[in-house]
Amino acid sequence: MAYETIIVEVEDHVCLIKLNRPDALNALNAQLMSELAKAASEAQENEKVRCIVLTGSEKAFAAGADIKMMSSKSFADVFSEDLFTPETDAIGRVRKPIIAAVAGYALGGGCELAMMCDFIIAADTAKFGQPEVNLGVMAGIGGTQRLTRLIGKSKAMDMNLTGRFMDAEEAERSGLVSRVVPAKKLMDEAMGAAQKIAEKSLISTMAIKESVNRSYETTLREGLLFERRVFHSLFATEDQKEGMAAFAEKREPQFRDR
Ligand code: HXC
Repeated sequence: MAYETIIVEVEDHVCLIKLNRPDALNALNAQLMSELAKAASEAQENEKVRCIVLTGSEKAFAAGADIKMMSSKSFADVFSEDLFTPETDAIGRVRKPIIAAVAGYALGGGCELAMMCDFIIAADTAKFGQPEVNLGVMAGIGGTQRLTRLIGKSKAMDMNLTGRFMDAEEAERSGLVSRVVPAKKLMDEAMGAAQKIAEKSLISTMAIKESVNRSYETTLREGLLFERRVFHSLFATEDQKEGMAAFAEKREPQFRDR
């Protein structure tokens, strides 16, 4: 499918989605969010795809929701259209792993979009922030919720109340990102991680994603029970037999997602 605000490529079982509004530092407008939601759903449907990488440009992953698009909206407008909710729900329905590869600005909705992914790999140029407070509003798609769970109350309050930016080193130290690499190596690192994930059984990787995400939604006791049951259920797969046989036979496993 042809898109105008994103570029989508599938290669070697990895779907690379690149945000592409260079004149606006990839600010998230209605078209971009709608195209992104469609591309994410297509990646979920596409049997060739086993992992997704979401990225932006060298200067910006995304500098937030499009301020020019939002500036004249009323409460009734944003309440009625439930700004970006259907699109973010569509991204949340993707069961395959998604990595965010972030260079440059990831601000406001851009930081929130990165946090919707399963983990974030950052370039040393990355800058994260929730500067909506400077616009007389606040975060609206996860900046007070996902960020708090990722980096804790004190830092989340600091980021949201002052609007300050966090560099890549602090983001890694705080648990917002999983790795930081030199900017030139960002895409190699992210695609390499995606490739590694794509080599596993898709049943395992989707089950792992579901189980880790469950930890956000439930108590430890219920989460551990959920994990144990999913773990048990994987013994019903051919990939479990293959993975364990390959280990014993000292060879690489050939997973078939069954
Ligand atoms: C619309 C944006 C934009 C944005 C940048 N641009 N961010 N347009 N919405 N969020 C546009 C600029 O207007 C400019 O266009 C071009 O991109 C380049 O930006 P500059 O400001 O000239 O670049 P620079 O001086 O390098 O500054 C980079 C920046 C700054 C620090 C990232 O652009 C900035 O502060 N942007 C806004 C960040 C922000 O407040 N984000 C939160 C948005 S609210 P022209 O045409 O002038 O060249 C949000 C709510 C989420 O995200 C909740 C959703 C439900």
